Amino acid sequence: MTHQLDTRPLGTSADELRFPPDFLWGAATASYQIEGAAGEDGRTPSIWDTFARVPGAVVNGDTGDVACDHYHRMPQDVALMKSLNLRSYRFSASWPRVRPDAGPVNAQGVDFYSRLVDELLAHDIRPWLTLYHWDLPQTLEDAGGWTNRDTAYRFAEYALSLHDAIGDRVPVVTTLNEPWCSAFLGYTGGQHAPGRQEGVAGLVAAHHLLLGHGLVIDELRRRGATADLGITLNLTVADAHDPDDEVDRDAARRIDALHNRVFLDPLFKGSYPADLVADTADLTWQGKPWPSVVHDGDLALISTPIDVLGVNYYKGDAVSGHPQPVTTGVDGSHAERATSTPFVGCEDVTFPSRGLPLTAMGWEVQPEGLTRLLTRLDADYDVPPMYVTENGAAYDDRVEEDGSVHDPERRTYIADHLRAVHAAIADGVDVRGFFQWSLLDNYEWAYGYDKRFGIVHVDYDTQVRTSKSSALYYAEVAASGRLRD
Ligand code: NOJ
Repeated sequence: MTHQLDTRPLGTSADELRFPPDFLWGAATASYQIEGAAGEDGRTPSIWDTFARVPGAVVNGDTGDVACDHYHRMPQDVALMKSLNLRSYRFSASWPRVRPDAGPVNAQGVDFYSRLVDELLAHDIRPWLTLYHWDLPQTLEDAGGWTNRDTAYRFAEYALSLHDAIGDRVPVVTTLNEPWCSAFLGYTGGQHAPGRQEGVAGLVAAHHLLLGHGLVIDELRRRGATADLGITLNLTVADAHDPDDEVDRDAARRIDALHNRVFLDPLFKGSYPADLVADTADLTWQGKPWPSVVHDGDLALISTPIDVLGVNYYKGDAVSGHPQPVTTGVDGSHAERATSTPFVGCEDVTFPSRGLPLTAMGWEVQPEGLTRLLTRLDADYDVPPMYVTENGAAYDDRVEEDGSVHDPERRTYIADHLRAVHAAIADGVDVRGFFQWSLLDNYEWAYGYDKRFGIVHVDYDTQVRTSKSSALYYAEVAASGRLRD
């Protein structure tokens, strides 16, 4: 199911930007962040159920037990998507719902996703399934989690069972969401579940995540899957704080290696970056140099061609090799209990503030970085068609007395990033869609319910959903395919 790029010229008059007519306008969510129903219909705990209960791991000790109660409100939520003119909805399946304790398939769990897909299709909304958005069955973590090679094979088993159940109705399947977070926030920095701070373990986990991806793509191809297949990466634009400073330039290179190329090179070149391997040469896993976890044949599987690349972008990073007075937040760096860097071997690296506007996460707003990122991917790799599978911002939204929510900052953030995508397309880069993060306010991982990324406000006491003014703006852009201001 590959689409042809619409090559008609894009409208670029001063007051209006026009996107290709078949551009896929969507919004995204993830299972643990919205579903709730944590103990229902056979679902067993994931690593996030466990981690959320570790004192100090999550702001306010929030858990995903109820979240947006989407499990019980799915039809209304799909109607909401329709009211916002969405053409696609990107969601993830919960592994411990589909295969509790990574054991046999749970018919009730599968049924939820089957009903969701039917509901979307009935509303003419294209389902985009992510197989893994961070909720590993706790049973597998107890056996080593992603540092255990066996987890990759269990992932393939789970993915194939979901394919057998709903694969005929899902046109796009991506294996992993942001494996950088799973590997390096989960196993090196410890800011995310399972909260391990074991340095090199992040690299080992990254390899096993990539292996799981490769096994799934390979097996789905063998089974004649008709869906577009791919992966979603969170990539950064690592700029040297002082481009004339050799130490800063080298720090930026190392962050680019450990954030971007550690995934991009195996996927698109079939090898790990030589500079990363050299930088990490003294890191050992179970008594041997860490690359010993890479077995013959792994990289061939990992580089099995894919049909789509999902790019999640929130911000870039200014990078320095010197101590700096004011630094910005790295993803997930808030957690009180985890102060170590997720970038193994980069204890000397800092992320100086550039004085750009900040979102409520403390992340710098840098839309032009998205144009550069998409253009760089196109230039440096043989990438398939790309989709921005996540972009969005948390702000401290206020509910007015009449119940409405006006979020002009989020609206501006959206418009500026859409302009950045348009610039990449106008430069000839094949970008075919854009997904808001997120449809709903939801469980923002270690920040709990403190940070709101939704274009739709959720009152967690009543579960009432209210479209923010940014949602109405996005709905208008999605319907017209045009940006007017
Ligand atoms: C990326 C993740 O995929 C998503 O789960 C998270 O909520 C957003 N970033 C915002 O941090």
